[in-house]
Amino acid sequence: MKRFTTLLGALAILLASCCAEDPNLYKDATQPIDKRVESLLSQMTLDEKLGQMDIQVFGQNNNVNNMGKTFEGEISPLIGSYIYTRNDAELLNATQKMVIEKSRLGIPVLFCMDVIHGYRTIFPIPLAQACSWDPQMSYETSRVAAKEAYLAGIKMTFSPMMDVARDPRWGRVAESYGEDPYTNCRFGEAVVKGYQGESIADKYSVASCMKHFAGYAYSQGGRDYFPTEVSDLVLWETVLPSFKACVDAGVTTVMSSFNDFNGVPATASHFLLQDVLRDKWKFDGFVVSDWRSIEQILNHRYAVDTLDAGVKALLAGTDMDMYDAVYERFMPEAMDRGLVSMDDIDKSVRRILKTKFELGLFENPYVEVLPDAERFRTPESLALAEKAAEKSMVLLKNENSILPLSKKITSLAVVGVMADSKYDIMGTWTASGDANETISVLDGLKNEFGSDVKINFVEGASFESNSAKTLSALRSAARKSDAVVVAIGEERKWSGENGSVASLGLPACQEQLVIEAKNSGKPVILLLSSGRPLGLSRIEPLADAIVQMWQPGSCGGNAVAGILSGRVNPSGRLAITFPYVTGQVPMFYNHRQNGRVDWVVPQGRYVDAPHTPMYEFGYGLSYSTFEYGDVKISKDKIAKGESVTASVTVKNTSNIDGEETLLWFVDDAVATTTQPIKKLKFFEKGEIKGGESRTFTFEIDPMRDLSFVDRNGATLLEEGDFYIIVKDKRVKLVLE
Ligand code: BGC
Repeated sequence: MKRFTTLLGALAILLASCCAEDPNLYKDATQPIDKRVESLLSQMTLDEKLGQMDIQVFGQNNNVNNMGKTFEGEISPLIGSYIYTRNDAELLNATQKMVIEKSRLGIPVLFCMDVIHGYRTIFPIPLAQACSWDPQMSYETSRVAAKEAYLAGIKMTFSPMMDVARDPRWGRVAESYGEDPYTNCRFGEAVVKGYQGESIADKYSVASCMKHFAGYAYSQGGRDYFPTEVSDLVLWETVLPSFKACVDAGVTTVMSSFNDFNGVPATASHFLLQDVLRDKWKFDGFVVSDWRSIEQILNHRYAVDTLDAGVKALLAGTDMDMYDAVYERFMPEAMDRGLVSMDDIDKSVRRILKTKFELGLFENPYVEVLPDAERFRTPESLALAEKAAEKSMVLLKNENSILPLSKKITSLAVVGVMADSKYDIMGTWTASGDANETISVLDGLKNEFGSDVKINFVEGASFESNSAKTLSALRSAARKSDAVVVAIGEERKWSGENGSVASLGLPACQEQLVIEAKNSGKPVILLLSSGRPLGLSRIEPLADAIVQMWQPGSCGGNAVAGILSGRVNPSGRLAITFPYVTGQVPMFYNHRQNGRVDWVVPQGRYVDAPHTPMYEFGYGLSYSTFEYGDVKISKDKIAKGESVTASVTVKNTSNIDGEETLLWFVDDAVATTTQPIKKLKFFEKGEIKGGESRTFTFEIDPMRDLSFVDRNGATLLEEGDFYIIVKDKRVKLVLE
């Protein structure tokens, strides 16, 4: 049967080529892309088409969850794309040359990689970047990431992750831009534009692939890969907007997600991939499956065999098959059995070829081989990495203004597993990042304070145990020092893919260091490095100051040291809620109102834990102090077609220049679909000089800012009362 299909295919090509135009037309860059695609497609055999629909791994994948590998010599010239895990441009060029020369039509390979927060210069994890409230900064970090990746020969990154993450137990919360849909939209579009630049054909631009479509962050129990049950309302209101924003920003491709989505594996979901993505949003790029997620349709028990899984994925709209080669292995038979047609195959191949032409791969398949110093970690890139880390860190506590450290401090005890870490503070997915090149907290403190402050470093702390020696060294270092810096947190593999936790608290041995530090009687400065909000209920009371430094990347040590010395005024604000304890999860700011509100006792309380978060969304301290005036509104009643401006004046009441982030929320008092208690609609970060005031505005467009989406995905704008909220100030606006 397979031979029969191949014979038919060959006949069709023969026919096409005798009546067709110049067979080399597809190589002519002056021709329109659609024409080039059709010309090439018409000459391809089924095997060549299925090869384009396949993506394999080149080298050893550094994602421990995906252990696949392919090495030189095993490379088939038919395979269309590779996840290229080697940082070796010469080898990449040689592979490309082999493919182009050995394949009949010379279709270049698309080399891809997970460049999530930097290629060789590692920036803070996405969750940390969201806390900067500075999407322009993330645009710039993505531009640098794109340039470094491009110079390594990579033409597509599997980023950004647009899963709005509300369950901090889920390890991939580190890759998200937090719990709020609007924040994810703004960062998503900035990052897509950063990777892609003006055009993906440009030098230093790469194609961006948004993932994981869709609902992945809602996995039951926060366990990776677990099924998700997402109501229609949550889907339209929370899950989909960030993906839509990336489509509108011109994202090139999409990755389908691993999860079972309301009873259908997302990779086989016609609803998600066709009805929403292509029909409603008019997305015209290709969809790549996640790692073996086509074959996994079988594990979901949605297909009788692998062939059936492939048919379901293809007909739903999954164009490219990551690693499991189901299409390659089973589609010829599926065609012979009439389960899929050549037309179904062509639709996918057409989309993939279109991307390759748009990238200019046919014209520029190779990468210029440059010395590392000219490609990676340039002084500008490192300066940006440091700036990004400074802006992402959040000062959570600062009792008696213990920070910035007084100039009188001449010695610091420094303890904890994160103090000397270079590897773990880089966070998940570090592409070609090298831990040896990372500035640890200890390095940063030494760089910052030089000989002015003696650092009494306590060696030997680990993630899961303490030795008696460490504890006694801590006591004696504390005795000799003016303050104790405890740097603790999560091992790199505790977050990221398959890095879910059942408890948000740190191991007792790490908490023990804080207890010991407190017992020393010296001020305790707690530095936390993690890929998620931590459960701090036991240690928060023991610390005088807490800096959430996240996983800050290549230059994190300098950034945190700058915050300790006062050279840097912290400006990060939380893009995700910190609960007190794990049992409060899910806890996020934009929930709906319960029916029983406060009466004698708080309603909907926990009897064994607070019912409020430890640190709410948007929380973060500064060395400056800010005072908000009342919110003013240019008109308090408007018609649907009118716009209106809300404004507020913020005074920096300190004498320290600082940056404040204004989060503008809308509270829709009554609607035909109940609304969250408030929804973020705009944010702006701006500097206010010490002693000065600055007025910030929010231009309200009713259709954009006062509307809501219902369970059918329809956007509705209803008359009534709205409240515009910033900080603890609010003003009423009536829509007539
Ligand atoms: C992850 C994706 C990633 C892919 C390729 C998968 O396991 O879920 O996010 O892009 O591997 O490395």
